[in-house]
Amino acid sequence: MSKNEDKILLKYETKNIDDYLAVGGFNALKRAISMSPDAIIQEVKKSGLRGRGGAGFPTGAKWDSLYKYPSKKKYLCCNAAEGEPGTFKDRYIIKKNPYQVIEGMAIGAYAIGAARSYMGIKVIFEEEIRRLADALKECEDRGFIGKNVFGGALDIPIDIKLGPDNYLFGEETAFMRVLEGGPCMPRIKPSFILGLGNGLKMESEDNAYVDGIPTLVNNLETYANIPHIINNGAEWFKSFGTEKSPGTMVFTLNGDVKRPGMYELPLGTTLSWLIYEIGGGPVNGSVKGVLPGGPSNKILAANELDVALDYDSLKAAGSGLGSGCVIVYDETACMVKTALTFSIFFMKGSCGQCTMCNSGTKRLTDLLTFIEHGRGDEKDITEIWSWIPQMMKKEAGRCYLITAEPIVVSSIMQKFPEDFIKHIEEGRCPYSRELTSFKILSFNEETSEFSQAMI
Ligand SMILES: Cc1cc2nc3c(=O)[nH]c(=O)nc-3n(C[C@H](O)[C@H](O)[C@H](O)COP(=O)(O)O)c2cc1C
Ligand code: SF4
Repeated sequence: MSKNEDKILLKYETKNIDDYLAVGGFNALKRAISMSPDAIIQEVKKSGLRGRGGAGFPTGAKWDSLYKYPSKKKYLCCNAAEGEPGTFKDRYIIKKNPYQVIEGMAIGAYAIGAARSYMGIKVIFEEEIRRLADALKECEDRGFIGKNVFGGALDIPIDIKLGPDNYLFGEETAFMRVLEGGPCMPRIKPSFILGLGNGLKMESEDNAYVDGIPTLVNNLETYANIPHIINNGAEWFKSFGTEKSPGTMVFTLNGDVKRPGMYELPLGTTLSWLIYEIGGGPVNGSVKGVLPGGPSNKILAANELDVALDYDSLKAAGSGLGSGCVIVYDETACMVKTALTFSIFFMKGSCGQCTMCNSGTKRLTDLLTFIEHGRGDEKDITEIWSWIPQMMKKEAGRCYLITAEPIVVSSIMQKFPEDFIKHIEEGRCPYSRELTSFKILSFNEETSEFSQAMI
């Protein structure tokens, strides 16, 4: 099991603000406003914290860019869209301790000089929205967020904004468009210094509409780490995890394992430890394949499970940590169906703005459907391979969605070619079971079960 002393974010369960205050809640904010913004950013930089939204970008460097950017006005956003299939970590952190996220956002807003902060969350996450809204109100009522905090030193309101149940809502430029009241569609990528789209177009304090405002976007779990870093220092934080991937991650262990669940572990824990020691091993027979970082990264085969769960080790293994969503497939899983399921997910998620993404995700889904239903042939396999490099070209699409699909599909085809051959030779799917679907709706702690919906 994961040990309590290895935890940072799930160490304490806080039912109300008094529980949070009892374990040192808001001491970090108090300490932060006695520090200069630059000193806070240096501490975050020193901690080595990397964004938990998928790409693992260094948080301190991002904050520094925003802090130094010459603009009178800046905004801060917390990305709680949690769109990756098989991921539940942000909602779990909200359930266990939303106060640390709110405190982390307040520290971030003070550090970069933000005028306002926004928390963007999917409208369907009703329970989590209620929990966040209640926690935020408690923080406001107790004078930690909003007006006159610490004698007026921190008048930075936080608002909760709701977005659609759409995978692209989590993509940061689409995220900001939704918060502006626009469509859930990515923009052409700006430079990473502004990093964050064209800013929010919103009513300013003087009731004028403004745009182009530099905006910091971080994932919810990223913010949750901040109070702990400010309270305990960068060196303490680095005592968890590895040199280049310090800290912990809240992993969603899902799929064909005996004990699926939510587990906070130090980064660098091996994938095999998570699957066998914590997850109890595969449900049927042996492990066939594992997605260590969700469906935007390559699948790993059974002989690759000794890899450490950290950004660099997984990159070296040809995959990625993503948002800490580990999906396990045992020997009864059909890998054609697996590839098809992800292809359908990306096809449905595509906004269709880019021609190659629109046609590529549809065509891959068609071809994989033929093969899965026993009506495919070698020509279909050849055609899939011809789409892969085209979809992965840098200029093929505005956002990473178009790259994610060929990455996962090609890795499944490469590592499990025998499944594709069998479907073609036998003219049918040789596996009898349905796949575990993986859009998580909720998690039952008592039974350690996820309730899931088809994507
Ligand atoms: C298609 C797509 C979906 C994404 N979904 C999410 C999401 O649900 N939550 C999230 O935090 N980041 C998501 N991201 C990453 C964000 O664009 C952004 O990089 C992240 O919020 C930055 O936070 P971080 O630096 O703290 O990781 C997504 C990216 C892409 C391309
Ligand atoms: S790559 Fe796909 S999902 Fe991304 S903007 Fe283009 S069409 Fe939309």
